[in-house]
Parts: sequence; C-alpha cells; structure tokens
Amino acid sequence: MKISRAVIVAAGLGTRMLPASKAIPKEILPVVDRPAIQYVVEEAVAAGVSEIIVVISPGRTTALDHFETAPELERHLEMRGKDEMLDTIRRIATMAHLTAVEQAEPLGLGHAVLQARDAIGGEPFAVMLPDDLFDSKRPCLGQMMAEAERLDAPVVALLRVAKSEVPKYGIVSGRKIAERLYRLTGMVEKPTVDKAPSDLAIVGRYILPPEIFEILAQGRPGAGGEIQLTDGLIELAGRRPLYGYEFEGTRYDIGDPFGFLTAQVGFGLKRADLADNFRAYLRTIISSS
Ligand code: G1P
Repeated sequence: MKISRAVIVAAGLGTRMLPASKAIPKEILPVVDRPAIQYVVEEAVAAGVSEIIVVISPGRTTALDHFETAPELERHLEMRGKDEMLDTIRRIATMAHLTAVEQAEPLGLGHAVLQARDAIGGEPFAVMLPDDLFDSKRPCLGQMMAEAERLDAPVVALLRVAKSEVPKYGIVSGRKIAERLYRLTGMVEKPTVDKAPSDLAIVGRYILPPEIFEILAQGRPGAGGEIQLTDGLIELAGRRPLYGYEFEGTRYDIGDPFGFLTAQVGFGLKRADLADNFRAYLRTIISSS
C-alpha cells in the first residue's frame, strides 16, 4: 500500500488548549520556534509524502498561511544578509504542496477525514493528527508506510499507555504477530478503564485505503455523539486485515498543557543551538525547587 498523500486534521476546537487556542488554531502554537503543524508537515515530507490536504474549520486558514511564500519578509532578510533565516523561510514555502478543505461543523474525526474524500480520490493515504508530535530516528509516518507497503494493508500507530490514560484514546484488541506488529481484531473509542480491551492506544498516524470514505459516509455518531474514525476502522477490520504497529520513538500529545510543556522540553533539548544552556537552566531550577 504505497502512498503519496496525507490528510492533516486541523479542524478541532482545541478546547483542551483554551484560552491559547481561542483566536488562533492550536496547530499554529509554537513548539520551540516553529508552529506545531510544521513538525507534522516535515515528518510527512521526510516519509516521502508530496501532497498534503489540511482539514480546517471554516475560514481558519492560518495554519496554511504559514506555508505560503512571504516576499516582503524574504526581501527584508535578504537586505540584512540574514541568509540562514532566508533559507529557512524559503524552505517552508516549498516543502510540500498543501491544500485546504473545510469541515463545516465539528462532527467528529471520522467526519473531518471524510471531507478530504474528493481531494484524495481512489488512492491509499495517510491521516495525521497534529496533536501528536513524534521524535524518532525514522519518521513515525515512514515507519507506518513501510509496514503498510510490506503487508499491503492498512496500518495504525500504537502506543502502550498507563491504565488510567485509556479513556483518552481509541484502544485496540489484537494478536501480536511480530515484533511491534499486531493484527487488530477490535477497538473501542475512549473506553472506561474496566471496558478497555488492552492498554494499546491508537495514536495519530494512520495509513488507510480509500474504502474508508465509503464506510465513514455511512457512519453513525458514536462516542461523544461524533462520527468516529475508530468506528470506521472497526468496520474496515471486518472487511480486510488491519494492523497496528508500535512505533519506535517518543510521542508528545501537545493538545493539552502538560503534553505541550513536555514537547517544549523534549524538542528544546534536541536543538544543538539551545541544548547546553537549556539543560543547565533546567538543572538549576530543578535543584532549587
Ligand atoms: C483521536 C482518536 C483516538 C486516538 C487519539 C490519538 O482522539 O479518536 O482514537 O486514540 O486521537 O491522539 P482525540 O484525541 O481527537 O479525542
């Protein structure tokens, strides 16, 4: 299952990040010095994706604007000889071909993905949730794509979570068939702890066949009264093999303040130009608190 297109779902209300997300989409909030969505686009590009469809709320185009050319800014940087930043700014505008589709109403993740149906057409594609940022040697999406290609089947990213965390996720049941790889037999969206089939959660990277659109189009509201992607996956798994892959690397959930903070620290410590000072600073405040 080879893919060249990805759907980034950026149409959520971002309620867990209010009030920061009141006037701007949460996907544009910076992690260190770049908007969160840039990490996701960079991951997609590093995995070989060339076309990206961003699902947005009506009129909320800021996340897309970030990838437009900025001629005045470029001229300004050029005149001042800021060549390195000029390269960075130019690179952002050329890294991928992005288009937007709107989700008129927030009716759920499954409904948001469905809005990309015409833009995707009849090819397998990736879904990326920009709340989930990954720090890994191989891009998380690249890991999923390699498995999907090898198995010629859809694959979702899995993460083992603490028991108390399972009500936040889609939780899967399945049979382990190889290192990190599961053949999925079922899943439940945001189960209570006692109803969770395992501690393996779906996190925001999926490789899906176009058939999912037809399933989602017939979908009825599920958990939280929303059209859930997880319910679509259950139907898909009844029709053809569906796999889960425990990705290698670290995942940050930047959709809430705690995860957002951990991402700043994690990615901050990865930055060659900041790491030494930042580590020393963290040591000082930890030892004095
Ligand atoms: C969504 C999915 C859920 C998945 C989670 C991963 O939930 O519905 O199955 O486990 O993303 O981050 P959300 O976080 O949008 O409520």
